Amino acid sequence: MAKKTRLDFNEMMVKGEKIVYLTAYDYLTAKMVEKAGIDMILVGDSLGMVTLGYETTLPVSMDDMIRHCQAVRRGAPNTFIVGDMPYMSYQVSDEEAVYNAGRFIREGGADAVKLEGGGPRAASRIKAINESGILVMGHIGLTPQSMAQQGGYKAQGRNSQAAVNIVKEAKRLEEAGAFSILVEAVPSAVGKAITERANIPILGIGAGPYTHGQLVIYADMIGLYDNFTPKFVKKYADVNEIITNAFKEYAKDVREGIFPVDGEHTYKMKEEEVEEFFKLLEKSDVLEG
Ligand code: KIV
Repeated sequence: MAKKTRLDFNEMMVKGEKIVYLTAYDYLTAKMVEKAGIDMILVGDSLGMVTLGYETTLPVSMDDMIRHCQAVRRGAPNTFIVGDMPYMSYQVSDEEAVYNAGRFIREGGADAVKLEGGGPRAASRIKAINESGILVMGHIGLTPQSMAQQGGYKAQGRNSQAAVNIVKEAKRLEEAGAFSILVEAVPSAVGKAITERANIPILGIGAGPYTHGQLVIYADMIGLYDNFTPKFVKKYADVNEIITNAFKEYAKDVREGIFPVDGEHTYKMKEEEVEEFFKLLEKSDVLEG
């Protein structure tokens, strides 16, 4: 299947076809995501929590993101990839934002980048990156890089004024040149209001069923990441249990001498070579020198 482009996503939006968006952080997962026919991959800075074991996304660096983007591109050569701009890769200035967005495209093999925030500063970064010829996705609602200001990982826009502010942010980012906007953890009425007023694809993660498409963190939906699961996640498998049980069985087999089985999980040597080998070992000087 040919890699989808921005035009395909716009067409899907117009036709009312849902856009399916999933995270991936490594080669093997990306291969499976592409095989499953997912439309768009986010190499999210959530890799900090899901893959690198940090408590938040804040320690993730540009180099971490580039390395993982490259691995995902190798696994999914025909899927549209969005590289997530990590903390402090775009906050300081438009120039740094453009430079780091360029690294995602040139070094990481991404097709677009995403950054968090809906205020004038985020709009300015989006405008600058877009004017440099790079596709940018906005990200509003819950924005984990501003978790301290938002009071933790909490749903946003739950009162009327806060909800109106999020709809305003979506308009601001669209006007700044975002090719799409991701809306995270808001009531479905807010996801719907944004979607109805947008001329670009609105993708939701915990923003209800009315957005033009959906994103989930792959490790949440297959039950791999078990530290916590957000309310909006539907679990399609419990891979964590399957893998842990396989590891337990392997440990038991090794401890009981059941694995490996000679002749089944081992390399063969011709009988005469084995005989010669043992004869050689009996010679007193063969292991010297
Ligand atoms: O990093 C990520 O995966 C994200 C999603 C949580 C929206 O930005």
